[in-house]
Amino acid sequence: MDDPEAVASTLRRARGVVVLTGAGVSAESGLPTFRGDGGLWRGHDPTRLATPEAFERDPALVSEWYDLRRMAAAVSEPNAAHVAMAELERHVVAAGGRFALLTQNVDRLHQRAGSERVVELHGSLVVWRDHRSGRRVTPEPTPFRTHPMPGPDGGWLRPDVVWFGEYLSEEALTVATSALTWCDLFLVVGTSAIVYPAAGLVGRATAAGAVTVEVNVAATPAHVDHRLVGPAAAVLPRLLEAAFGNAA
Ligand code: OAD
Repeated sequence: MDDPEAVASTLRRARGVVVLTGAGVSAESGLPTFRGDGGLWRGHDPTRLATPEAFERDPALVSEWYDLRRMAAAVSEPNAAHVAMAELERHVVAAGGRFALLTQNVDRLHQRAGSERVVELHGSLVVWRDHRSGRRVTPEPTPFRTHPMPGPDGGWLRPDVVWFGEYLSEEALTVATSALTWCDLFLVVGTSAIVYPAAGLVGRATAAGAVTVEVNVAATPAHVDHRLVGPAAAVLPRLLEAAFGNAA
């Protein structure tokens, strides 16, 4: 199961690489994960913060909580795991292969590390939208002066993230699903892989014939072909080095 050489060799030969990431990737940038010790859902009740009903009930509280997370993301830096995934994309694309990075993260650290083919399955904290009209805006990266902030069309600004009880964007799901048709290596990095529909992508990748590899500090219930256990910021650079040498 834990066979870095076999994974490196699969990576070297792969023509289509898809990566699914979660909050664990940003842990070493200082951003908390959701579950586990110190996780956001340990100290906060998601039904009070991450649902449309919560926003209807107390828009100021929800706005303040997401604004704090927006600011924390803005002042954090991509870590070696983000950088390794951007390098992996460049390497695969330069060799004529296909690549997609499907992320559940809303912090934009992948893009800031240089990743280009990113699908934000759960939206983004950087973008907000008027809760009435849906019109999107990108506020300055400074704390909001009031909560909630008035939107451009008479509603309140809400983060452009996917809340519990909401659907993922059709476009994001279409890109993710079509990536499974050409993917021969599916990497699952830093996610508990229990929140659907993102979690279901792992099984679908297997069904589509891809080799699946999990990179995580602890094994999750996901059924994968290989597990590389350790912090993503250490495991991924090592994997790239083993697969491509210094040329990575
Ligand atoms: P979780 O908090 O559920 O899981 C984080 C995973 O990262 C766990 O499996 C940890 O073991 C692992 N991990 C922690 N530090 C790591 C490190 N340095 N290197 C590698 N792995 C590490 O976060 P997600 O799986 O992203 O959705 O959660 C999925 C969704 O649930 C989120 O997008 C969010 C949440 O509710 C919404 O808000 C809609």
